[in-house]
Amino acid sequence: MSKERLRLLLASVATLVVVLPIGYLWQQSLMPSTYSVMDMGYVDYGGGPRRSGDDGHDGHDGHDMHDRAGATSVADLTERSDRAADVTVDLVARQGTVTVAGREIDGYSLNGRTPGPTIEVTQGRLLEVRLHNRDVEEGITLHWHGVDVPNAEDGVAGVTQDAVQRGEEHVYRFVARDAGTYWYHSHQVSHEQVRGGLFGTLVVQPRRAPAGVVDVPAVMHTYDSLTTVNGTRTDHVTARPGQRVRVRVVNTDNGPFQAWASAPYRVLAVDGTDVHGPTPVEDEAVTVTAGGRVDLSLTVPADGLRVQLGSAAAVVVGREGAEVPEPDAPGAEVDLLSYGAPAPLGFDPADADRSFRYAVGRRPGFVKGRPGLFWTVNGHLFPDVPMFVVREGDVVRMTISNSSGDVHPMHLHGHHAVVVSRDGRRATGSPWWFDSLDVEDGETYEVAFVADNPGVWMDHCHNLEHARDGLVAHLMYDGVRTPYRVGGAPGNEPE
Ligand code: C2O
Ligand code: CU
Repeated sequence: MSKERLRLLLASVATLVVVLPIGYLWQQSLMPSTYSVMDMGYVDYGGGPRRSGDDGHDGHDGHDMHDRAGATSVADLTERSDRAADVTVDLVARQGTVTVAGREIDGYSLNGRTPGPTIEVTQGRLLEVRLHNRDVEEGITLHWHGVDVPNAEDGVAGVTQDAVQRGEEHVYRFVARDAGTYWYHSHQVSHEQVRGGLFGTLVVQPRRAPAGVVDVPAVMHTYDSLTTVNGTRTDHVTARPGQRVRVRVVNTDNGPFQAWASAPYRVLAVDGTDVHGPTPVEDEAVTVTAGGRVDLSLTVPADGLRVQLGSAAAVVVGREGAEVPEPDAPGAEVDLLSYGAPAPLGFDPADADRSFRYAVGRRPGFVKGRPGLFWTVNGHLFPDVPMFVVREGDVVRMTISNSSGDVHPMHLHGHHAVVVSRDGRRATGSPWWFDSLDVEDGETYEVAFVADNPGVWMDHCHNLEHARDGLVAHLMYDGVRTPYRVGGAPGNEPE
């Protein structure tokens, strides 16, 4: 062999050595055109009992949970109450140009506007929402973020239902059992549809609402580069000096922001759950997690007040025409780990039946056929992510850690969890119940919850771009299966 040919051969071999493994990884990352989330990744029993009849090893060797005799379909996990609806709402979704804060954007609307209408219902009432898809090409759903609905009402395309196609409709039906501030949004191609405006606020009023309090929903959203609150730049609400207001801050964006005010406030609720013994806060901001909600209570001073939602949006409350200058951003922050007073949890996180790890990292590779630097869960890239398996009644602990270089708002559907500790420091304030938790780079949270809502539930990052890039796992109950599939004819694409 000539020197020339040898050199050529060696060069070809070297190329193959580089190309072949990359080609393999690329090929491995391609998703089939349709699949069940139950087949994704690997089963994690969290040290608890496995299903009977299993050969008993966690592993990457696939798992078939579909054809189990007697398994309950998520489609049957509907609202148990069969009484007539107390509140009925019709929502018509459209795609196209919509006006927000005087600007035309290319997005989505519900009943001709974005945000969609605020839905208000009294605790204990049965809410029925009829969703019509007028012309949204990719199909739509509605997820009730933070409401622990029965699984069939959870609105996740490809997991709890099929996407609602153009010209079709779908009815959601559930009892609003817990008072609080929530929101709803599409869970089909979420990273586009939510950003583009397919969302709104849901307020569940307590049975006995305190009299004379002015209720101010404040839903914060960024459309491209346009930051808005309630669809405007600065929202003005009329109230008399001395009146109490409850500002229900909702973060529908992909990242956290800080809220602060020109007057002292109390943090009344976090993610729909009341804080126990909230104390007055002055010169401190409070972080509102992406997807999360914070309710603030304030008394209107003589010349009005201003609640600042990040530096770009605000709510002014006061006499007609009141203008309140932007208060300086405080240097300090309310720490929900120690805010408020302790109260019983109703269960003992120390006595857990299962313990899971949800460690978010980052590394280069391929996800869905695309090369890039992607999020990992417990070291694995999507779709090789855990399926956390629980049984009804289990006390579940989860350690959520983040070494990925970015913040992640972690959101488990269908449950509220409570913070046990952060970076080894135990929670000492009011029980910090959440459905959306801001996990900063370098942080580790211990959280716990009771598995009391059977189904197949997403457990993902609510930076919806991160979810699209694979920061998604699921929690499923033993004995439950989903007949729905990602992809396929309905084009289900939950992220
Ligand atoms: Cu706001 Cu998967 O949800
Ligand atoms: Cu994230």
